[in-house]
Amino acid sequence: MSSSSQIAKLQLGDQTYELPVRVGTEGNRAIDISKLYAMTKHITLDDGYGNTGSTMSTITYVDGEAGVLRYRGYPVEEIAERCDFTETAYLLIYGELPKGEELEKFRTNIRRHTLLHEGMKTLFAGFPPSAHPMAILSSVVGALAIYDKDSGDPGDPIQSEMAIYRMLAKMPTIAAFGYKQSIGQSFIYPNNSLTYCQNFLHMMFAVPSEQYEMDVDFVNALNLLLILHADHGQNCSTSAVRMVGSSNVNLFSAISAGICALWGALHGGANEACINMLEGIMAGGRNLGKYIDKAKDPDDPFRLMGFGHRVYKNYDPRARLCKTVCNRLIEKYGGEDPLFELARELEEIALSDPYFIERKLYPNVDFYSGIIYRIMGIPKNMFTVLFALGRVPGWIAHWREMHLSPTNRIHRPRQLYTGHTERKFVPLIKR
Ligand code: SDX
Repeated sequence: MSSSSQIAKLQLGDQTYELPVRVGTEGNRAIDISKLYAMTKHITLDDGYGNTGSTMSTITYVDGEAGVLRYRGYPVEEIAERCDFTETAYLLIYGELPKGEELEKFRTNIRRHTLLHEGMKTLFAGFPPSAHPMAILSSVVGALAIYDKDSGDPGDPIQSEMAIYRMLAKMPTIAAFGYKQSIGQSFIYPNNSLTYCQNFLHMMFAVPSEQYEMDVDFVNALNLLLILHADHGQNCSTSAVRMVGSSNVNLFSAISAGICALWGALHGGANEACINMLEGIMAGGRNLGKYIDKAKDPDDPFRLMGFGHRVYKNYDPRARLCKTVCNRLIEKYGGEDPLFELARELEEIALSDPYFIERKLYPNVDFYSGIIYRIMGIPKNMFTVLFALGRVPGWIAHWREMHLSPTNRIHRPRQLYTGHTERKFVPLIKR
């Protein structure tokens, strides 16, 4: 809910225009330009949308200056401490913490849809072992629309609910089957007597010939990581889901677009890129100063992966929680991890360097999460798949919020054209 308590005045030539100022529930303010073009025949320009709000949303609040993250008003630290991932998913999607029977019904509806259509198994067989799991994930999630016959219409509440259960339920199965395919092992089917996180680890690491020993610390670490990645406002991949979803395409296609956006190294792909960076620094002789200098050099494309953020100009609260889990797991599994040591040293040097201080560059969620995945035995090229697994409830929540909004319409930004003015065509023989 927002109110318009002030007016912004825009002077264009000798004309003054009045634009309403919307005030959010946390006091954040926005100049509402929805009537600007009609009033002034001017548009605004904002490459990368650093100053542009695409919507009003009640799902997640991020205060980048203070390093605050809240899901439907609850601090992420508290959710991480006191909820499991399915409870968090319910909160993000439906807006309230579920009562006991609501949560049980939600979990039952998810469990009922964990299997894939048997025909989808041939999709995996067609991928080469070298296929990146994010390419597999986006392809197979998109293919859910082929096999799905009764949940494609976002305007139909029953179909939307069914699509939501199917998307939440099948994501871990698709992720784990993609992994098994890449290592030449047989698929392990979902076991619905397990919890969401237990089921995923079981599908990832069990083999038909042996009893799989569930590691409770890994289950708890996965639960925390999925919660920390569950939503983050209008980030690149969520904006992709909203943009694609605004055409009224089915949920699976919109989520597939979000997976593609998340794969980029500047976004969710940074967790894999960060471990590659740390391993590269180790292999190159652990010369931290050299890499800090490269990161600061405007002519060098090298960036510190897992560092910096468009919104956080303070420590990402999720990075802090990931660091705590790293310490806890490392203590239990061997006492030290050279990459974790390196990451902490890198953080220490960067946070005392004027370049990073002036630009308010801090570790983000991707800086330490890869260390945890690594300890859990998750291969590097699956790190961003785990990010996507966590982000699905957030993508769904935004997709649902958009379709339930009375002002919802197809997203179609304008542009400032700076190309050729009209010119005469030149036939080929004269070129
Ligand atoms: C995620 O949006 C979200 O909410 C995303 C996310 C989510 O939950 O959905 O939080 C998840 O994507 C986290 C970000 C993961 N990406 C990385 O860790 C990649 C490395 N980070 C950078 O590429 C960068 O910080 C971005 C992409 C994250 C943010 O880029 P911006 O907002 O466009 O900032 P910028 O590039 O304009 O940087 C401002 C300045 C520049 O220097 P100057 O031109 O002012 O001299 O800071 C510098 C940048 O060169 N800078 C860095 C840096 N990040 C920014 N310099 C060195 N190393 C870095 N990592």
